[in-house]
Amino acid sequence: MKPGGFQQWLKDTMGLDASTIGPTVVERAVASRMAACECKQLGEYWQTLRASPLEQQELIEAVVVPETWFFRDTQAFSALSGSYGLEWAATHPGERLRLLSLPCSTGEEPYTMAMALYDAGFPLERLSIDAVDISERALAKARRGLYGSNSFRGRELQFRERHFAAVAGGWQLPETVRSRVNFIQGNVLDVAFLPGEAVYDAIFCRNLLIYFDADTQVRTVGILKRLLRPQGLLFVGPAEAGLILSQGFASAQLPMAFAFRPPRADSGGGVSAAMLATTASALAGAAAKAATVKAIAKPRPLARPRPAPAANPAPPAVEGAEALLDAAQRLADNGDFDRAASSCQAYLQAQGPSARALYLLGLIEGAKGRNELAEDYFRKALYLQPQHEETLMHLALLLETRGDAAAGRVLRLRAQRSRRTAG
Ligand SMILES: C[S@@+](CC[C@H](N)C(=O)[O-])C[C@H]1O[C@@H](n2cnc3c(N)ncnc32)[C@H](O)[C@@H]1O
Repeated sequence: MKPGGFQQWLKDTMGLDASTIGPTVVERAVASRMAACECKQLGEYWQTLRASPLEQQELIEAVVVPETWFFRDTQAFSALSGSYGLEWAATHPGERLRLLSLPCSTGEEPYTMAMALYDAGFPLERLSIDAVDISERALAKARRGLYGSNSFRGRELQFRERHFAAVAGGWQLPETVRSRVNFIQGNVLDVAFLPGEAVYDAIFCRNLLIYFDADTQVRTVGILKRLLRPQGLLFVGPAEAGLILSQGFASAQLPMAFAFRPPRADSGGGVSAAMLATTASALAGAAAKAATVKAIAKPRPLARPRPAPAANPAPPAVEGAEALLDAAQRLADNGDFDRAASSCQAYLQAQGPSARALYLLGLIEGAKGRNELAEDYFRKALYLQPQHEETLMHLALLLETRGDAAAGRVLRLRAQRSRRTAG
């Protein structure tokens, strides 16, 4: 039995392409499971694995990447709770909004969906969230609803005071939010995975496809299509957007939310260069639309609600240089790319070269459909900070969308390494 046999088994069983996490991770996982099972030879462990579903789950647990946090890529949640959720509530009286978080890992993503909708005034009794993951261990943590500091990243943490209770060992989410989420252990590649069809109004499938090879990605997108209602929304991770477009989905035009509408049943499902270009440039016009839809439903008063963004917000007052970049990020999130770019340029003039400013400029140019400029900025950011993870992932996506899968893969591996070093 060769080590490659275990990689193949993981790929066949759960879709994992070992090259996305580095083959040594699989080797280490196998070595540690061999020690736990007191197997001296690879062949002996192989027999144990094949004979024992419990051991199969253990090996899966040893290779999964459960990395997640609350409000990760936050614009997806703003889009769900703002333009999508409230419009849905207004147009579907008496119905229940059905959401799927796949994979949900330790629960931060589905709980964020519930918190974001609650904060926007969506009636929780009309909300049902299924949250699926292959990892039993991750689900056990999710069900407890008790989180440490690693689950809270970034500077905007007001939601923690609003929703969690500080307890010994971390922050506890109350039953009101936890009860909206139904955790299910499942493997997206199982033939019997979530039987039936088209029951979900929105699916979050973020940061799963990046671990699959091209065939498995396409297969998984087919499963997502089956589960998503024709008018539904699919949210993916920033690095997965190109793939979704290539499968016939269309951008929902929600800035930086990476949200897509499914292909019509009668459409072929292919992608054209024109579709990609239109999608990217259409992002710029979407902020005003999102703000309009926010006005449709009247949220009930809640403790310290987040203010809705104005359709044409004034640049926030800035105190320090970093605040200039925070302002640029906010403007970009609202689709105001020109003023976001000006803030970045002002920062660069005042402070000199900065990986974060160049990365933001790359994002802005990419969202405007100017991919060559975007690439240029991303490369400059990496010159300054070779391990800048977000830049590595976005440049990978850009190169893959252009057809350069090999270069994309190299960058993804660098991003994985950078994440592991940071973690
Ligand atoms: C990086 S986390 C993503 C969590 C969350 N969606 C997010 O973006 O923050 C990846 C998760 O995928 C799960 N996973 C990997 N392969 C899977 C499969 N075949 N079926 C279901 N879940 C899987 C892992 O257990 C892990 O918790």
